[in-house]
Amino acid sequence: MHNSSGFTYNRTAMTDQQFIYLDNNATTPLDSEVIEEMLPFLTTFYGNPSSGYAFAARARKAIDLARERLAALLGCEPPEIVFTSGGTESNNAVIHSALQFAPLGKHVIASAVEHSAVLRPFQDVEKCGCSVTFLGVDRDGNLDLAEFEAAIRPETALVSMMWANNETGVLFPVEKIAGICRRKGVLFHTDAVQALAKIPIRLRDTAVDFLSLSAHKFHGPKGVGALYVNRRTRLSPLIAGGGQENARRGGTENVAGIVGLGKAAELAAKYLAEGNCSVRSMRDRFEKAILESVSGASVNGADALRIPNTSSLSFEGIESSAVLLLLDRQGICCSAGSACRTGSQEASHVLRAMNPNGDGARRSLRFSFSRFNTEAEIDRAVEIVPKVIEKLRQTAAPMQRGGFSPVAMALPGTP
Ligand SMILES: Cc1ncc(COP(=O)(O)O)c(C=O)c1O
Repeated sequence: MHNSSGFTYNRTAMTDQQFIYLDNNATTPLDSEVIEEMLPFLTTFYGNPSSGYAFAARARKAIDLARERLAALLGCEPPEIVFTSGGTESNNAVIHSALQFAPLGKHVIASAVEHSAVLRPFQDVEKCGCSVTFLGVDRDGNLDLAEFEAAIRPETALVSMMWANNETGVLFPVEKIAGICRRKGVLFHTDAVQALAKIPIRLRDTAVDFLSLSAHKFHGPKGVGALYVNRRTRLSPLIAGGGQENARRGGTENVAGIVGLGKAAELAAKYLAEGNCSVRSMRDRFEKAILESVSGASVNGADALRIPNTSSLSFEGIESSAVLLLLDRQGICCSAGSACRTGSQEASHVLRAMNPNGDGARRSLRFSFSRFNTEAEIDRAVEIVPKVIEKLRQTAAPMQRGGFSPVAMALPGTP
């Protein structure tokens, strides 16, 4: 692809190897239209948006436009948006703020399957004397709403429940949870990093107080995100400094990143309006083909509502780390759970919460799709994945008798 600024961008030519990228919940490729809009703010229009002269007004106006575009995607008002460095910062900002304003005897609630960007700060506040309730989920990853309501106490300062799970794609009934919190006078935050741009969201029809999002999950740049703060809700800044973002987040704005986020939001709204059809149909075709061709394969969260791009599959008789290695050799990028845990030996906390006594957490793979995937890539993945699983199963049996590694055994003959 060639654009007016002379910049050439080709998604696959950027590495030596041809690859099939099925890990779009970890991050997504930048849309070339996003890059095109960002470039002038990395080169020509470098003014500080807080400066008073006309040259800097160009950057200020670009931020205003990004705020409007994101507000349109979220169904909220532009002043309700605070730009941040991403999902992790947005989550931390909410938890910090809610506890600043909370009276003594604080209590917070989250699900046990939240991303580490919620779990870790909650574990930290627990160490500082705050009481934390982590609510479990059923085998499909669903929350029990009655159990949730019963967990709310008079001193509960904040409830944080993700909109879509990053590992399984399972959706929580966030509008209902927000309604319960509003009735009980408790602040409600949702980590919507994986839901945004995948399902329609209209915040003005909900009782959500805070929502976190991240640009790199929907074809925008990394290191930029936003926090929605309902206009009736106070926010005490996590990062205090200059009065940027209406004194809600200090620091000179990441202008090019914010411009990229805004453009990505505008494009996402367009694809959402078209129903994200290609992504859903590719995911469904992939899932159906794998279930039909691989015995002992099942979908994690099969009976739950899920975002249209995610397929978390469990395979009997394999170790996901071994499959990942072999798929990597075949140029297929996917993941054993969340990207943050790749390389660690720890099994997925999400899959363990769904089935504490099973071993599905060690036998699962996450495939996540985007509008940049092609039908040809799905064809190829559907051909390779069953062969890799079969190869590993064949080598696992002698390993169990003789104690050698299925990965080492499978490498020379990888299909
Ligand atoms: C559900 C969820 N929340 C938060 C994050 C963190 O977002 P960021 O990478 O922008 O900090 C991620 C990223 O994987 C995520 O999937």
